[in-house]
Amino acid sequence: MSQQRKILMTTALPYANGYIHIGHLVEYLQADFWARFQRMRGHDCVFICADDTHGTPIMVKARERGITPEQLIAESHKEHVQDFADFQIEFSHYGSTNSPENKELCEYFYKKMQEGGHIRTKPIQQYYCEHDKMFLPDRFVKGTCPKCGSKDQYGDSCDVCGSTYAPSDMKDVHCSICGNPPVLKASDSIFFKLNDFKEYLQEWIPKHSSSEISKKMLEWFNEDLHDLDISRSAPYFGFPIPGTDNNKFFYVWVDAPMGYMASTQQWAKAQGKTLQDIWQDSQREIYHFIGKDIARFHLIFWAAFLKAAGYRTPNEVFVHGHLMVNGEKMSKSKGTFVAARTYLNHLNPEYLRYYYSTKLSSSVDDIDLNLEDLVNRVNSDLVGKITNLGSRGGQMLKKKMDGMMSTPDAEGAALIKSAQDRAVTIAEHFENRDFHKATNEIRAIADEANKYFDEKAPWKTLETNPTATKQVVTTTLNVFRLLAIYLKPILPHYTAKVEKLFGEANYQWADLQKVLTNRPIQDYEHLAVRVEADKVKAMIEESRKLNESIQAAKKATAPAATAAPKKAAAEPTTPGVIEFADFEKVELRVGLVVEAEEIKEADKLLRLKIDVGGGEIRQIISGIKAAYKAEQLIGRKLLVCVNLAPRKMKFGMSEGMVLAAGTGGSDLFLLFPDDGAQVGQRVK
Ligand code: MSP
Ligand code: ZN
Repeated sequence: MSQQRKILMTTALPYANGYIHIGHLVEYLQADFWARFQRMRGHDCVFICADDTHGTPIMVKARERGITPEQLIAESHKEHVQDFADFQIEFSHYGSTNSPENKELCEYFYKKMQEGGHIRTKPIQQYYCEHDKMFLPDRFVKGTCPKCGSKDQYGDSCDVCGSTYAPSDMKDVHCSICGNPPVLKASDSIFFKLNDFKEYLQEWIPKHSSSEISKKMLEWFNEDLHDLDISRSAPYFGFPIPGTDNNKFFYVWVDAPMGYMASTQQWAKAQGKTLQDIWQDSQREIYHFIGKDIARFHLIFWAAFLKAAGYRTPNEVFVHGHLMVNGEKMSKSKGTFVAARTYLNHLNPEYLRYYYSTKLSSSVDDIDLNLEDLVNRVNSDLVGKITNLGSRGGQMLKKKMDGMMSTPDAEGAALIKSAQDRAVTIAEHFENRDFHKATNEIRAIADEANKYFDEKAPWKTLETNPTATKQVVTTTLNVFRLLAIYLKPILPHYTAKVEKLFGEANYQWADLQKVLTNRPIQDYEHLAVRVEADKVKAMIEESRKLNESIQAAKKATAPAATAAPKKAAAEPTTPGVIEFADFEKVELRVGLVVEAEEIKEADKLLRLKIDVGGGEIRQIISGIKAAYKAEQLIGRKLLVCVNLAPRKMKFGMSEGMVLAAGTGGSDLFLLFPDDGAQVGQRVK
């Protein structure tokens, strides 16, 4: 065995205002595979995570529920820890960003930034909601797009025309929480001069991330890097910035990555060590596992913070893609936005662990969870190919023979040797996080062993040639044992049962070199059972219902962002409220999508060709790309507003509007009429 490595690895800190779902698990599971692999190889691998607890959404959610943010994050912490444990994810420590260690680190980093001259204060104009008594972050302001005039767009960018702007450029602004118009207030903001680190980052990023990702990151470097506003105005759930009289708080993306260190510090303390002993140990490799959506925060901001504070930067940031389900974005209404807990209510976590391992690679491509494929893969590979070797071999030896293994015959010895010889390749795949390649190799071994077993047909020779039969069974069990060792990073509980079967414990990678001969096996315990497709269906159904009830509860407690202000309803003259007669002018019709395509150059837009009846085809450009794929819509009926004045947009004319509910982005639900509706029919 090569020299022992020292590794510190982290996964992104999940937000405390939501539950863990199967998308998150793409990350936490692959990191767990990797950590377990490193430990099996005898390396010292510390695996750290924590909850990300600060920021406006958490404050707002706690208010909605009438509890304190501390109560909310304590609840989430408990749930997250349980979800991860039940998915067999083994962190060395799972902390929280709301910790004294983290507060101290933030203050230290800030002091270092100040001392280095990297901080400046500038006044900014910001919206303040008198009703909710808070400054509104851009995403909490809604209004009319200054470019194209679309209503109800977020304060930072327009879903319809794709332009970006400041919330103060918008018309008819309102608070997304209560619907009231906010007021502009000037306040000082504290900025980190990111551009001071431009040259440093330009060199650092390509050396510490894949070429795919670093290319993307360096796109920001054509111009000077903007100052980063690291402060947020009170009230804010977070850490106060020293010297601001509790008026300013650190922006959540300052203290969140700092949470990696704070959580490491807590772990170190429990081992009688300090943060410096771990983080500043030049012999220790540091890796962050993250999703592509947050690459910028790590490769640009976090790297610069570390540099400013005089701390070392990570060896590499491993970036993965997003989860798709059945080829589409996870969808709450379709029930494919599955909570970790909902999954566990129906299915064994090892199925998902195995399935993801057959899909995961080191690339940043999205991965697709195809539910039918999951059932097939688990049933044919894990149960049919792999487990069958153990169960057939084990039961034959124990029930039909004396339960003692003998020695493999020459052919068997060669088969075992060839399975052992794959160790180097499989280890390489694990090391490179090409888990799907590792499982391909593992499956190939199982295929060879099944072929051998079926050819030898030991069940036929039990009586006629017991010695040869035993050799075949001994061989088969040895190969099965090797498969279990290879699979241990992915299926630790499964492998623990195999350890018991052979009267062994705690398999390490080095155990692959052994061959078991002339020794007893223990009683065969069931290892894995087939997945029933019905259970998958039941899980999706429960998930759909869960999201429906969450949605309904939200609507009941807080007025939707798009709803008119409550107060205003009594005064019809208030802007935002329309008279019935005005509403009657809106002409709605049932339309049929005859063509749909994604507008590549725009993040949010689809181009639809819609038959609105009478042979009339309208082109409608709609900001629904985050929620729907073009293919999904072709042939479907929609509700269309047909008498909206045509608008010239960057990508062509838009001649109408399709109706949807939701707050925008991926939280958007097109309104589909019943199947019976006629194309062109007027909607009353
Ligand atoms: N709180 C921030 C991370 C702070 S790290 C200092 C955050 N939290 S998150 O809960 O939204 O996401 C946590 C991790 O899960 C991120 O790396 C994110 O990319 C990943 N995923 C969340 N949803 C995902 C999918 N649907 N698919 C794959 N990974 C996903 O971001
Ligand atoms: Zn408000």
